[in-house]
Amino acid sequence: MSIPPKKLEDSSLDSALRPERWGEYIGQTPIKENLRILIEAAQKRKEPLEHLLFYGPAGLGKTTLAHLIKHEMDAQMKITSGPAIERVGDLASILTNLSPGDILFIDEVHRLNKMVEEVLYPAMEARSLDIIIGKGPAARTLQLELPPFTLIAATTRIALLSSPLRSRFSGGTFRLEFYTEPEIKDILARSAHLLGITAAESALMHIAKRSRFTPRIANHLLKRCRDVASVRGNGTITDETAEEALKLLDIDAAGLQSEDRRILNILINKFSGGPVGLTTLAAASSEEASTIEEVHEPYLLRLGFIERTPRGRIATRRAYEHLSIEPPRVLFR
Ligand code: ADE
Repeated sequence: MSIPPKKLEDSSLDSALRPERWGEYIGQTPIKENLRILIEAAQKRKEPLEHLLFYGPAGLGKTTLAHLIKHEMDAQMKITSGPAIERVGDLASILTNLSPGDILFIDEVHRLNKMVEEVLYPAMEARSLDIIIGKGPAARTLQLELPPFTLIAATTRIALLSSPLRSRFSGGTFRLEFYTEPEIKDILARSAHLLGITAAESALMHIAKRSRFTPRIANHLLKRCRDVASVRGNGTITDETAEEALKLLDIDAAGLQSEDRRILNILINKFSGGPVGLTTLAAASSEEASTIEEVHEPYLLRLGFIERTPRGRIATRRAYEHLSIEPPRVLFR
Protein backbone atom coordinates (compact mmCIF):
# COMPACT_ATOMS: atom_id res chain seq x y z
CA MET A 1 0.00 0.00 0.00
CA SER A 2 1.29 3.46 -0.82
CA ILE A 3 -0.37 5.57 1.89
CA PRO A 4 2.16 6.64 4.55
CA PRO A 5 1.49 5.60 8.17
CA LYS A 6 -0.42 8.15 10.24
CA LYS A 7 0.79 9.40 13.62
CA LEU A 8 -2.22 9.72 15.86
CA GLU A 9 -3.54 10.07 19.37
CA ASP A 10 -5.44 7.03 20.62
CA SER A 11 -8.82 8.82 20.75
CA SER A 12 -8.69 9.67 17.07
CA LEU A 13 -7.65 6.20 15.97
CA ASP A 14 -11.11 4.91 15.12
CA SER A 15 -12.04 7.69 12.76
CA ALA A 16 -8.52 7.68 11.32
CA LEU A 17 -8.97 4.06 10.26
CA ARG A 18 -12.13 4.85 8.35
CA PRO A 19 -11.76 4.42 4.60
CA GLU A 20 -12.68 7.64 2.82
CA ARG A 21 -12.80 6.41 -0.77
CA TRP A 22 -14.23 3.31 -2.42
CA GLY A 23 -10.72 2.22 -3.41
CA GLU A 24 -9.84 1.77 0.27
CA TYR A 25 -13.15 0.21 1.26
CA ILE A 26 -13.17 -3.55 1.81
CA GLY A 27 -16.25 -5.82 1.67
CA GLN A 28 -20.03 -5.16 1.52
CA THR A 29 -19.76 -5.60 -2.26
CA PRO A 30 -23.46 -5.47 -3.19
CA ILE A 31 -24.02 -2.28 -1.16
CA LYS A 32 -20.87 -0.75 -2.56
CA GLU A 33 -21.97 -1.41 -6.15
CA ASN A 34 -25.41 0.07 -5.55
CA LEU A 35 -24.07 3.14 -3.80
CA ARG A 36 -21.42 3.82 -6.43
CA ILE A 37 -24.14 3.96 -9.08
CA LEU A 38 -26.42 6.13 -6.94
CA ILE A 39 -23.57 8.55 -6.25
CA GLU A 40 -22.40 8.75 -9.84
CA ALA A 41 -25.94 9.22 -11.13
CA ALA A 42 -26.63 11.99 -8.60
CA GLN A 43 -23.36 13.71 -9.52
CA LYS A 44 -24.21 13.53 -13.23
CA ARG A 45 -27.58 15.12 -12.55
CA LYS A 46 -25.89 17.63 -10.23
CA GLU A 47 -28.41 16.75 -7.57
CA PRO A 48 -27.98 15.65 -3.96
CA LEU A 49 -28.10 11.96 -3.31
CA GLU A 50 -31.47 10.51 -2.39
CA HIS A 51 -32.13 9.56 1.25
CA LEU A 52 -30.49 6.35 2.44
CA LEU A 53 -31.10 3.98 5.33
CA PHE A 54 -28.40 1.60 6.63
CA TYR A 55 -29.13 -1.14 9.09
CA GLY A 56 -27.40 -4.14 10.61
CA PRO A 57 -25.48 -5.17 13.72
CA ALA A 58 -23.25 -2.65 15.51
CA GLY A 59 -19.68 -2.19 14.32
CA LEU A 60 -20.18 -3.17 10.68
CA GLY A 61 -19.56 0.38 9.46
CA LYS A 62 -22.83 2.26 8.97
CA THR A 63 -21.18 5.50 10.11
CA THR A 64 -18.09 4.69 8.05
CA LEU A 65 -20.26 4.39 4.93
CA ALA A 66 -21.89 7.75 5.64
CA HIS A 67 -18.44 9.38 5.96
CA LEU A 68 -17.30 7.72 2.77
CA ILE A 69 -20.35 9.01 0.90
CA LYS A 70 -19.67 12.49 2.24
CA HIS A 71 -16.15 12.34 0.79
CA GLU A 72 -17.25 10.81 -2.52
CA MET A 73 -20.00 13.44 -2.90
CA ASP A 74 -17.61 16.15 -1.73
CA ALA A 75 -20.36 17.29 0.63
CA GLN A 76 -20.57 18.63 4.17
CA MET A 77 -22.09 16.33 6.76
CA LYS A 78 -23.91 17.16 9.99
CA ILE A 79 -23.99 14.28 12.45
CA THR A 80 -26.63 13.66 15.09
CA SER A 81 -28.59 10.78 16.58
CA GLY A 82 -32.19 9.82 17.35
CA PRO A 83 -31.91 10.35 21.12
CA ALA A 84 -30.11 13.70 20.67
CA ILE A 85 -33.09 15.19 18.83
CA GLU A 86 -35.45 15.52 21.76
CA ARG A 87 -37.85 18.16 20.48
CA VAL A 88 -39.30 19.27 17.18
CA GLY A 89 -37.41 22.53 17.65
CA ASP A 90 -34.08 20.63 17.77
CA LEU A 91 -34.79 19.07 14.39
CA ALA A 92 -36.08 22.35 12.97
CA SER A 93 -32.86 24.05 13.97
CA ILE A 94 -30.73 21.31 12.39
CA LEU A 95 -32.73 21.35 9.17
CA THR A 96 -32.82 25.11 8.77
CA ASN A 97 -29.05 25.29 9.23
CA LEU A 98 -28.35 22.90 6.36
CA SER A 99 -26.78 24.25 3.18
CA PRO A 100 -27.70 22.95 -0.28
CA GLY A 101 -26.15 19.53 -0.91
CA ASP A 102 -25.44 18.81 2.77
CA ILE A 103 -25.77 15.36 4.25
CA LEU A 104 -27.59 14.93 7.54
CA PHE A 105 -26.56 11.72 9.30
CA ILE A 106 -28.93 10.46 12.01
CA ASP A 107 -27.57 7.50 13.94
CA GLU A 108 -29.90 5.30 16.02
CA VAL A 109 -32.80 6.64 14.01
CA HIS A 110 -35.15 4.11 15.68
CA ARG A 111 -34.91 6.27 18.81
CA LEU A 112 -36.49 9.37 17.24
CA ASN A 113 -39.68 10.31 18.98
CA LYS A 114 -42.98 10.28 17.10
CA MET A 115 -43.44 14.06 16.95
CA VAL A 116 -39.95 14.61 15.59
CA GLU A 117 -40.46 11.79 13.11
CA GLU A 118 -43.58 13.45 11.75
CA VAL A 119 -41.69 16.66 11.04
CA LEU A 120 -39.12 14.60 9.18
CA TYR A 121 -41.64 13.17 6.67
CA PRO A 122 -42.41 16.37 4.69
CA ALA A 123 -38.78 17.45 5.09
CA MET A 124 -37.61 14.28 3.37
CA GLU A 125 -40.35 14.15 0.80
CA ALA A 126 -40.94 17.74 -0.19
CA ARG A 127 -38.10 19.63 1.48
CA SER A 128 -40.74 21.33 3.52
CA LEU A 129 -40.48 22.14 7.19
CA ASP A 130 -44.00 22.26 8.62
CA ILE A 131 -44.18 23.43 12.20
CA ILE A 132 -47.28 24.12 14.24
CA ILE A 133 -47.01 27.30 16.27
CA GLY A 134 -49.34 27.94 19.15
CA LYS A 135 -52.13 25.82 20.56
CA GLY A 136 -55.88 25.41 20.12
CA PRO A 137 -57.80 27.75 17.78
CA ALA A 138 -54.84 30.11 17.55
CA ALA A 139 -52.53 27.36 16.25
CA ARG A 140 -51.17 27.87 12.77
CA THR A 141 -48.70 26.07 10.55
CA LEU A 142 -45.45 27.66 9.61
CA GLN A 143 -44.03 26.28 6.40
CA LEU A 144 -40.42 26.78 5.36
CA GLU A 145 -38.65 25.56 2.26
CA LEU A 146 -35.50 23.61 3.05
CA PRO A 147 -32.40 23.38 0.86
CA PRO A 148 -31.90 20.15 -1.09
CA PHE A 149 -30.23 17.72 1.32
CA THR A 150 -29.63 14.01 1.83
CA LEU A 151 -30.67 12.18 4.95
CA ILE A 152 -28.55 9.16 5.79
CA ALA A 153 -29.98 7.25 8.71
CA ALA A 154 -28.60 4.24 10.53
CA THR A 155 -30.13 1.73 12.88
CA THR A 156 -29.39 -1.60 14.50
CA ARG A 157 -33.16 -2.13 14.96
CA ILE A 158 -34.91 -1.83 11.62
CA ALA A 159 -38.05 -3.51 12.99
CA LEU A 160 -38.62 -0.55 15.31
CA LEU A 161 -38.86 1.92 12.42
CA SER A 162 -42.37 2.94 11.42
CA SER A 163 -43.34 2.08 7.88
CA PRO A 164 -44.01 5.74 6.90
CA LEU A 165 -40.42 6.54 7.83
CA ARG A 166 -38.98 3.47 6.13
CA SER A 167 -40.81 4.22 2.92
CA ARG A 168 -39.26 7.67 2.64
CA PHE A 169 -35.71 6.47 2.02
CA SER A 170 -36.03 6.94 -1.72
CA GLY A 171 -32.38 6.06 -2.46
CA GLY A 172 -32.77 2.70 -0.76
CA THR A 173 -32.49 0.67 2.42
CA PHE A 174 -29.30 -1.33 2.78
CA ARG A 175 -28.55 -4.14 5.18
CA LEU A 176 -24.88 -4.42 6.16
CA GLU A 177 -23.76 -8.02 6.42
CA PHE A 178 -21.09 -9.57 8.60
CA TYR A 179 -17.72 -9.52 6.85
CA THR A 180 -15.90 -12.70 5.82
CA GLU A 181 -12.68 -13.70 7.58
CA PRO A 182 -10.50 -12.84 4.57
CA GLU A 183 -12.15 -9.40 4.40
CA ILE A 184 -11.50 -8.82 8.11
CA LYS A 185 -7.91 -9.89 7.58
CA ASP A 186 -7.53 -7.35 4.76
CA ILE A 187 -9.07 -4.64 6.99
CA LEU A 188 -6.60 -5.58 9.74
CA ALA A 189 -3.68 -5.41 7.30
CA ARG A 190 -4.81 -1.96 6.17
CA SER A 191 -5.26 -0.74 9.76
CA ALA A 192 -1.87 -2.17 10.81
CA HIS A 193 -0.25 -0.31 7.94
CA LEU A 194 -1.98 2.98 8.81
CA LEU A 195 -0.96 2.67 12.45
CA GLY A 196 2.60 1.64 11.65
CA ILE A 197 2.14 -1.76 13.31
CA THR A 198 4.11 -4.75 12.07
CA ALA A 199 2.30 -8.04 12.29
CA ALA A 200 2.82 -11.54 10.94
CA GLU A 201 0.27 -12.57 8.28
CA SER A 202 -0.70 -15.61 10.36
CA ALA A 203 -1.20 -13.43 13.46
CA LEU A 204 -3.61 -11.20 11.51
CA MET A 205 -5.57 -14.29 10.45
CA HIS A 206 -5.59 -15.36 14.08
CA ILE A 207 -7.10 -12.01 15.11
CA ALA A 208 -9.53 -12.07 12.16
CA LYS A 209 -10.93 -15.42 13.29
CA ARG A 210 -11.82 -13.93 16.67
CA SER A 211 -13.23 -10.61 15.47
CA ARG A 212 -16.90 -11.60 15.24
CA PHE A 213 -16.75 -10.76 11.50
CA THR A 214 -16.85 -7.10 12.64
CA PRO A 215 -14.28 -4.41 11.65
CA ARG A 216 -14.73 -2.37 14.84
CA ILE A 217 -13.89 -5.40 16.97
CA ALA A 218 -11.02 -6.39 14.67
CA ASN A 219 -9.43 -2.94 14.97
CA HIS A 220 -9.90 -2.97 18.73
CA LEU A 221 -8.22 -6.39 19.03
CA LEU A 222 -5.40 -5.22 16.77
CA LYS A 223 -4.63 -2.37 19.17
CA ARG A 224 -4.68 -4.67 22.20
CA CYS A 225 -2.36 -7.10 20.40
CA ARG A 226 -0.04 -4.21 19.60
CA ASP A 227 0.06 -3.34 23.34
CA VAL A 228 0.99 -6.89 24.30
CA ALA A 229 3.55 -7.05 21.50
CA SER A 230 5.20 -3.85 22.69
CA VAL A 231 5.18 -4.76 26.40
CA ARG A 232 5.95 -8.46 26.26
CA GLY A 233 7.53 -8.89 22.83
CA ASN A 234 9.66 -6.90 20.43
CA GLY A 235 6.80 -4.79 19.04
CA THR A 236 5.86 -7.09 16.17
CA ILE A 237 2.56 -8.93 16.52
CA THR A 238 3.40 -12.60 16.25
CA ASP A 239 1.13 -15.64 16.63
CA GLU A 240 2.29 -15.88 20.24
CA THR A 241 1.64 -12.25 21.20
CA ALA A 242 -1.76 -12.34 19.44
CA GLU A 243 -2.64 -15.52 21.32
CA GLU A 244 -1.52 -13.97 24.61
CA ALA A 245 -3.56 -10.79 24.04
CA LEU A 246 -6.68 -12.75 23.13
CA LYS A 247 -6.25 -14.90 26.22
CA LEU A 248 -5.94 -11.80 28.39
CA LEU A 249 -9.16 -10.50 26.87
CA ASP A 250 -10.82 -13.87 27.55
CA ILE A 251 -11.79 -14.33 23.91
CA ASP A 252 -12.04 -17.98 22.92
CA ALA A 253 -11.26 -19.77 19.66
CA ALA A 254 -14.71 -19.01 18.25
CA GLY A 255 -14.42 -15.31 19.13
CA LEU A 256 -16.86 -15.61 22.04
CA GLN A 257 -16.35 -13.26 24.97
CA SER A 258 -17.15 -14.27 28.53
CA GLU A 259 -20.58 -12.61 28.35
CA ASP A 260 -21.55 -14.62 25.24
CA ARG A 261 -20.51 -17.82 26.98
CA ARG A 262 -22.42 -16.84 30.12
CA ILE A 263 -25.63 -16.31 28.12
CA LEU A 264 -25.15 -19.62 26.29
CA ASN A 265 -24.50 -21.39 29.59
CA ILE A 266 -27.69 -19.96 31.09
CA LEU A 267 -29.69 -21.00 28.03
CA ILE A 268 -28.31 -24.53 28.30
CA ASN A 269 -28.16 -25.03 32.05
CA LYS A 270 -31.15 -23.06 33.31
CA PHE A 271 -33.51 -23.65 30.41
CA SER A 272 -32.33 -27.05 29.17
CA GLY A 273 -31.22 -25.43 25.92
CA GLY A 274 -34.57 -23.68 25.35
CA PRO A 275 -36.81 -22.69 23.79
CA VAL A 276 -36.83 -19.62 25.99
CA GLY A 277 -38.19 -16.14 25.31
CA LEU A 278 -35.85 -13.16 25.08
CA THR A 279 -37.22 -11.37 28.15
CA THR A 280 -36.95 -14.52 30.29
CA LEU A 281 -33.38 -15.06 29.14
CA ALA A 282 -32.61 -11.40 29.83
CA ALA A 283 -34.05 -11.60 33.35
CA ALA A 284 -32.16 -14.81 34.11
CA SER A 285 -28.87 -13.33 32.96
CA SER A 286 -29.44 -9.83 34.44
CA GLU A 287 -28.77 -8.43 31.01
CA GLU A 288 -30.81 -5.92 28.98
CA ALA A 289 -32.98 -7.69 26.40
CA SER A 290 -31.79 -5.16 23.82
CA THR A 291 -28.12 -5.97 24.57
CA ILE A 292 -28.77 -9.67 24.11
CA GLU A 293 -30.66 -8.97 20.91
CA GLU A 294 -28.26 -6.43 19.41
CA VAL A 295 -24.85 -7.47 20.70
CA HIS A 296 -24.75 -11.15 21.55
CA GLU A 297 -27.44 -12.80 19.47
CA PRO A 298 -26.43 -11.74 15.96
CA TYR A 299 -23.02 -13.36 16.38
CA LEU A 300 -24.33 -16.49 18.13
CA LEU A 301 -26.89 -16.88 15.35
CA ARG A 302 -24.23 -16.36 12.72
CA LEU A 303 -22.07 -19.08 14.29
CA GLY A 304 -25.07 -21.39 14.42
CA PHE A 305 -24.81 -21.67 18.23
CA ILE A 306 -28.41 -20.60 18.74
CA GLU A 307 -31.56 -20.56 16.66
CA ARG A 308 -34.63 -18.38 16.89
CA THR A 309 -37.90 -20.27 16.80
CA PRO A 310 -41.46 -18.99 17.23
CA ARG A 311 -41.32 -20.38 20.80
CA GLY A 312 -38.03 -18.73 21.71
CA ARG A 313 -34.27 -19.15 21.50
CA ILE A 314 -32.71 -22.61 21.45
CA ALA A 315 -29.11 -23.74 21.82
CA THR A 316 -27.83 -25.96 19.02
CA ARG A 317 -25.64 -29.04 19.22
CA ARG A 318 -22.72 -26.84 18.16
CA ALA A 319 -23.17 -24.66 21.24
CA TYR A 320 -23.05 -27.72 23.51
CA GLU A 321 -19.94 -28.96 21.73
CA HIS A 322 -18.24 -25.58 21.95
CA LEU A 323 -18.84 -25.37 25.70
CA SER A 324 -17.92 -29.05 26.13
CA ILE A 325 -21.33 -29.84 27.58
CA GLU A 326 -22.88 -33.21 26.82
CA PRO A 327 -25.98 -32.53 24.70
CA PRO A 328 -29.19 -34.24 25.83
CA ARG A 329 -29.91 -37.45 23.92
CA VAL A 330 -33.09 -36.04 22.42
CA LEU A 331 -31.26 -33.04 20.97
CA PHE A 332 -31.31 -33.44 17.21
CA ARG A 333 -30.65 -29.84 16.27
N1 ADE B 1 -12.17 -0.11 8.48
C1 ADE B 1 -13.37 -0.34 8.99
N2 ADE B 1 -14.20 -0.82 8.05
C2 ADE B 1 -13.50 -0.90 6.90
C3 ADE B 1 -13.79 -1.34 5.58
N3 ADE B 1 -15.00 -1.81 5.25
N4 ADE B 1 -12.83 -1.28 4.67
C4 ADE B 1 -11.62 -0.82 5.02
N5 ADE B 1 -11.26 -0.42 6.24
C5 ADE B 1 -12.20 -0.45 7.18
